[in-house]
Amino acid sequence: MVDISADYMGLKLRSPLVASSSGLTTHLKDLKKFEESGVGAIILKSIFEEEIIHYAQESLTRMSVSPSIYPEALDYFELEYEQIKDPLSDYLNLISSAKKELTIPVIASINCITAEGWLNYAQKIEQAGADALELNLFILPSDFTRTSQESEAIYFDIVSKVLEKITIPVSLKIGYYSAALGLLIQKLSETGVKGITLFNRMYAIDFTTDTMEFTTPNVLSTPSDISTSLRWIAIMANRVKCDLAASTGVLNGDAMVKQLLAGAKVVTAASAFYLHGIPYAQDMLNDLKRWMVANDYTSLDAFRGKMSKDRTYNPAAFERVQFMKYFKDR
Ligand SMILES: Cc1cc2nc3c(=O)[nH]c(=O)nc-3n(C[C@H](O)[C@H](O)[C@H](O)COP(=O)(O)O)c2cc1C
Repeated sequence: MVDISADYMGLKLRSPLVASSSGLTTHLKDLKKFEESGVGAIILKSIFEEEIIHYAQESLTRMSVSPSIYPEALDYFELEYEQIKDPLSDYLNLISSAKKELTIPVIASINCITAEGWLNYAQKIEQAGADALELNLFILPSDFTRTSQESEAIYFDIVSKVLEKITIPVSLKIGYYSAALGLLIQKLSETGVKGITLFNRMYAIDFTTDTMEFTTPNVLSTPSDISTSLRWIAIMANRVKCDLAASTGVLNGDAMVKQLLAGAKVVTAASAFYLHGIPYAQDMLNDLKRWMVANDYTSLDAFRGKMSKDRTYNPAAFERVQFMKYFKDR
């Protein structure tokens, strides 16, 4: 009998597979399907600061928002704003109905770009009953007026203000742009957050050469997209003061096992469910159990981190970034 329960941010999860924030975690009926399919927790679709700002038009001028901080959010907003009447109360209702109807932890998610104004919403989310809050922060370092330290100070500013306001566990979901990524993740883990998710999938841009129109390629991940988060989970495992959740490119049970071996506490997935349906979570979990039985592991702790940089037989593999030998003769 294998035990696949996991502790994440102080929450007891029955499995390490977490439904990542996406359009699939917007409606109660889908949340129920996730629960039936065995996931350990659900991260609701983010409420975007822009949604709230656009709804409360009068706040806009007060808050001096710079869209360059996170243009991805504006696209989500454009796609979905039409259907949004009152984004915040819809969101709070979703949290409270999810808490009434589900037994697994429900994690709310806010996409924030400033530390001001909207913080009371974090309190409302806590009052609505969310078990935890994930802050979806992605700072594109493209602002020529800000140094890297100034850009990264935004993370710390937002985190400290949120932590002052609420008592439920807070996690951070970040991107991988930083000149000193390892140190940034380590310092963020010392702020009091209970979890860090590595990494959000960036909204890809592309355009055509004939009509010169922007397109949105590769909305969903492919298996090779796992490599960046796999590398950084392995490098950061045992070097942070909070739990690590892996995100991006976990498309099957084998990929989930890899992230646990690298040192992730839990593994989040979205594309897998867009591609194969929500019940596929059960297949992924069955694959995990089969792998554990085949390798004589009875709990996740028995193998978690065995391939982390600290513990693997080949730590240099995680530092290798150049192709020295491959395709030499081609
Ligand atoms: C259609 C779609 C919508 C998403 N919306 C959000 C969101 O609102 N908040 C968020 O933090 N991540 C969002 N994500 C990112 C996912 O949570 C996840 O981090 C990313 O897709 C990488 O994981 P995957 O490879 O399992 O898809 C979205 C992803 C997709 C595909």
